Amino acid sequence: MSRPARHFLTLLDLGADEARALLDRAIALKRMLADGRDYRPLARRTLAMVFEKSSTRTRVSFEVGMVQFGGHALFLSPRDTQLGRGEPVEDSARVLSRMVDAVMIRTFDHEKVERFAAHSRVPVINGLTDRFHPCQLLADMQTYREHRGDIRGRRVAFVGDGNNMCHSYMNAARLFDFELRVACPEGFEPDADLLDSAGPCCTLVRDPREAARDADLVVTDVWASMGHESEQDHRAAAFAHYCVDATIMAAAKPDALFMHCLPAHRGEEVTAEVIDGPQSVVWDEAENRLHAQKALLELLLVGGPLD
Ligand code: CP
Ligand code: NVA
Repeated sequence: MSRPARHFLTLLDLGADEARALLDRAIALKRMLADGRDYRPLARRTLAMVFEKSSTRTRVSFEVGMVQFGGHALFLSPRDTQLGRGEPVEDSARVLSRMVDAVMIRTFDHEKVERFAAHSRVPVINGLTDRFHPCQLLADMQTYREHRGDIRGRRVAFVGDGNNMCHSYMNAARLFDFELRVACPEGFEPDADLLDSAGPCCTLVRDPREAARDADLVVTDVWASMGHESEQDHRAAAFAHYCVDATIMAAAKPDALFMHCLPAHRGEEVTAEVIDGPQSVVWDEAENRLHAQKALLELLLVGGPLD
């Protein structure tokens, strides 16, 4: 009997030591690529990528990562597969996982990736759901490590919607052992059960400057995530005081970094001055999606480094 597949649906699917090792590996893979070293641990392997929402970074980083590893990636959209015509997710999982070596899914309900994973013979990776965006956090944690070293014991401010990115930062605070302060307007809090399980490492405040006070890292995300576009006007009013600007950055430590998973809306959740300024590391953060996910694919598909 073969072993059950190992999935990555939330950050907490990794152990703390394993997560740190994965960041080190991502940094090593980045260096290997820059040095022009050929490393193809996934030769003849295929990743299916199911996208029920739009994507630039996630799609390109997974596809390019598979190519660099000697494998192949398939882009599957519900518009032109049976996934969009009501074929049960369990059946799609059984079929796809008999043909490909791993499946990445970006969808709405988190429960859908859980159901898919429960019926898949091969690893399933969460490429974003309404509840979590764990791949982004691997890149964010790699970026912090590259610029500032270990994030353990540091203070992070998440300013904005209590959304999938906020939830993933809450998981990251538990896994990587940092203090997280979330500042959000009333009615846009993160999930109460997740907040409870995060325990003392995560606190909720209303004032974004209080969240940012003495922070080592300030993070924000869009006010209206994919699927919430019709609430844009209502959200713009509710979030008016939550734009990460120079005054919020001034509350943080002088060497604090700024991150945003992108795509960003300058003038809404962040000013151009901040996102295009010297404390912003958003382009490294975006690039690191490639390196961090290559380390993840290597771990899930072949168990770790083969070089
Ligand atoms: N940050 C992120 O996941 O970007 P995409 O939506 O472009 O994939
Ligand atoms: N919270 C955003 C993240 C996009 C990468 C969304 O879900 O649309």
